Amino acid sequence: MERTLVILKPDAVQRQLMGKVISRFEEKGLPIVACKMMTISPELADRHYEAHTAKPFYPGLKAYMTGGPVLVLVLQAEGVIAMVRKMMGATFASDAEPGTIRGDYGCAKGTFNLIHGSDSPEAAQREIELFFEKNEIFDYKLTNQCWLKA
Ligand code: CDP
Ligand code: MG
Repeated sequence: MERTLVILKPDAVQRQLMGKVISRFEEKGLPIVACKMMTISPELADRHYEAHTAKPFYPGLKAYMTGGPVLVLVLQAEGVIAMVRKMMGATFASDAEPGTIRGDYGCAKGTFNLIHGSDSPEAAQREIELFFEKNEIFDYKLTNQCWLKA
């Protein structure tokens, strides 16, 4: 079963959008199997965004991601990585389509874009291991699951 790491970034927490974003995943039928609030340390930011640390935007991204509490989730379902990426919308909120999380709740042209979602199974596994211990992930079945597939 596929899993993805989602981070509701500091702007989503500060703008009190956590509930709205979580509701989108719940209404879609995607099970949340882990969830916690935390502040990302500089070291964790470097590891999470290891592909970006040399890029010119990284200092601003790091300051943003470590600048306030975040809500970190793991969602689990077949195809969940692509579904969440579609629900997030384009990287910059100003470009993101209406109907997407970034498109509906953001207008920034740059770094502040409310949400992170893993972009591949390899990234998801690496990122989930960075943020969660095994015993913090709950491999349960939703009672309505039979209505969400086939
Ligand atoms: O988050 P996503 O996968 O859509 O984008 P990314 O290319 O993996 O970039 C990671 C994060 O860096 C973005 O979500 C933005 O917050 C930030 N970023 C930025 O500040 N400036 C850029 N030119 C590209 C990305
Ligand atoms: Mg990315």
